[in-house]
Amino acid sequence: MSFPLPAALTAATENLASGIRQSEIAKRWASISARYREGKGSQVAIASPDEVAAYLLARMPATFAAVSASLCAASELMPSFSPSSLLDLCAGPATASFAALSLWPGISSVTLLDTNPFFLDAAHVLGDASGIAAIRQAKFVHSTLGSARSELPSAELVVMSYALVELNTAEIATLARHIWSHSTGLLLFVEPGTPEGFRRILICRDALIKEGAHLVAPCPHVASCPMPPPAWCHFTERLPRSRRHRLAKGAQVNFEDEPYIYLAFARKGLELRPRGRIVSRVRVSKAGVRFTVCGEDGRLTDEMAPRRDRGIYAKMRRAEWGDASFSRQTGE
Ligand SMILES: C[S@@+](CC[C@H](N)C(=O)[O-])C[C@H]1O[C@@H](n2cnc3c(N)ncnc32)[C@H](O)[C@@H]1O
Repeated sequence: MSFPLPAALTAATENLASGIRQSEIAKRWASISARYREGKGSQVAIASPDEVAAYLLARMPATFAAVSASLCAASELMPSFSPSSLLDLCAGPATASFAALSLWPGISSVTLLDTNPFFLDAAHVLGDASGIAAIRQAKFVHSTLGSARSELPSAELVVMSYALVELNTAEIATLARHIWSHSTGLLLFVEPGTPEGFRRILICRDALIKEGAHLVAPCPHVASCPMPPPAWCHFTERLPRSRRHRLAKGAQVNFEDEPYIYLAFARKGLELRPRGRIVSRVRVSKAGVRFTVCGEDGRLTDEMAPRRDRGIYAKMRRAEWGDASFSRQTGE
């Protein structure tokens, strides 16, 4: 499945950048991206409306796609979950809220928290442009996560995307427990699919398993992560690039692959329990289709669907990295 940024949001992000020369957008994005790579947070990296505009053109399609894919993976295992309230923490331009509302249009109450006023202004503008009433009427909390804790509501769906990487590592476990206390249904973290994003996701995983939260996805088990370092668990989402998106990043091709990692916890146990999840590319050869599965026993197994088993082969040829698997395919 692919998750292109909705047309109204693409148009609104292009509109926000309309008064800025294309060369200036590309220059701004290059310097924002350098600041992020140096480990600076958005508070330093994004400090003007022009910088928000560059960020939106360069990054929003990819973060929207990654959050959408993560929410879909969780909802596949909780098909009856249909939240009516949403709390988007470190919301930035409300990317995760737009992804959640695309999947669950019945969400009627939205709270967005962020410390960066330029991002919150953009969230207002994009909310108006989207025509989605729940975002237009959302409650905006301009605060840091730490100081807003008591004024935050609980919500059936709590999301935090691409922000753990900006928090102090030593505080993540405590913050994860606190964030969990605000979720009455599902909590989702999404992070860049980098070793650092993975490391931070693992801190949340350990902390919330200890809290007794039900781990929904991606892991089909609560044992220690079997991914052997220096490998790290992540997935990728392919998304289309518009002309402005391409120009903002100085890119040539009209698509990009966004690496991401996510973690979903629920209050209730799963409705469907997968046997495993595909944690590698699905490789097609003359002999068959090969892939690695992280199993319910907490182990990684290389599996193959041989070409001679036509039914399984045809099914696994269509399978993708990140898919849940509900039955053993075959051994060799
Ligand atoms: C990379 S942006 C991601 C924004 C958005 N969640 C998305 O996926 O597009 C990280 C966001 O986290 C916010 N942030 C970082 N530390 C924060 C804190 N301690 N309290 C509140 N917001 C914070 C930043 O202001 C920024 O908007």
